[in-house]
Amino acid sequence: MAFSLSDMLKSLSGGRNEGSVLGIDIGSSSVKIVQLRPSRGAAILETYGEIALGPYGQQPIGKPVRLGPEVVGSAIIDLMKQANVTAKTGGISIPFSSSLVTILELPKVDQSTLKQIVPIEARKYIPVPISEVALDWFVIPDEEATDSAFDQLKPKTPKAATQEVLLVAIQNATLNSFQTITTESGIHVDFFEIEIFSAIRSSLSHGLAPILIVDIGASSSKMYIVERGIVRLTHLVTAGGAQMTDVLARSMNWEFEKAERVKRERGLVADKAYSSEENGRINEALLSTLTRIFSEVNKVLLSYGQRYNKNVSRVVLTGGGASLPGLSEEAKRSLNAEVEIADPFSRTEAPAFLNSVLKDIGPGFAVATGLALRKLRGK
Ligand SMILES: Nc1ncnc2c1ncn2[C@@H]1O[C@H](COP(=O)(O)OP(=O)(O)OP(=O)(O)O)[C@@H](O)[C@H]1O
Ligand SMILES: [Mg+2]
Repeated sequence: MAFSLSDMLKSLSGGRNEGSVLGIDIGSSSVKIVQLRPSRGAAILETYGEIALGPYGQQPIGKPVRLGPEVVGSAIIDLMKQANVTAKTGGISIPFSSSLVTILELPKVDQSTLKQIVPIEARKYIPVPISEVALDWFVIPDEEATDSAFDQLKPKTPKAATQEVLLVAIQNATLNSFQTITTESGIHVDFFEIEIFSAIRSSLSHGLAPILIVDIGASSSKMYIVERGIVRLTHLVTAGGAQMTDVLARSMNWEFEKAERVKRERGLVADKAYSSEENGRINEALLSTLTRIFSEVNKVLLSYGQRYNKNVSRVVLTGGGASLPGLSEEAKRSLNAEVEIADPFSRTEAPAFLNSVLKDIGPGFAVATGLALRKLRGK
């Protein structure tokens, strides 16, 4: 499936693509691509598209699949053709599940000492030899009365003596496989970024209060608490949209394809095409996975709130699963915070007649849009 915009937008972009940039999100069920062009401080949406990976592994659309990097590369080539992508450079996301993001509490030492102690500290969190991972970190600026979200087991140390460091690690093997994907697809990749940071860039407005982002993907749901623009806590739940489809298919005795279609089109909203008994059963099937995800969300909200005596006021839902019809109402009923569905394309400029389509499909493009925005902002 690809949504080609480029013909419609050609007049706007004047056919040029200097300065155009790509964001590519390789998810477990599909690849998403977004092409943006800078114009007087704004980001023009030149084209975007999505291609399901299932069919590349003899599986239906919506199924998560594990494919070799060469196959993913050829899927990206197909996607770029379908979406009439013209840009050749951009950023690619690394799945949160292939990375480690944590906060270290370290003594207040200078940068050069830090360079020596971070890899040593990191060993405690990384189950493979340090030589097999790429490490990155940055010192979190001080805030009075803030404790680390990850220091629950450690005794409290006096504030002035310590500093918090956000540590990020990715396995070299993962990076190598992404390198092969990009070589195969002929894209010049300027940077790799863990998907968390891309989603934050496109889905959060600047704000100080803690906010929880929930990315409902096909194979898993990812949760990140962001405070003062910094990731404070992460959580992964192995339940997502594919499980919703599986349960629905089983419950209604449908093929996966049919269940996937009904889930996307009907969602949680009763449809006259079904008897009231069937409508009830469809909702029950979809809600069984959703309830599990939402109860994890509430747990994360509660534990962060209790530990830091801070209320997480808002939950932002992203990922393809956030496009489920009727989700917003269900989330408002079940979650102990205000709920918002991410609208990443609102950070871009596109013709007004596309507004409602872009709003509907937007959550699934949060990561790809965030990647392209980073490249555009040159940071
Ligand atoms: N309109 C919709 N209603 C309900 N679910 C939808 C809709 N559109 C897509 N989905 C679901 O969203 C999921 C795909 O989301 P997304 O593209 O964010 O996942 P992914 O990035 O491939 O997976 P992951 O992040 O887990 O690796 C699928 O389960 C798909 O069925
Ligand atoms: Mg994803």
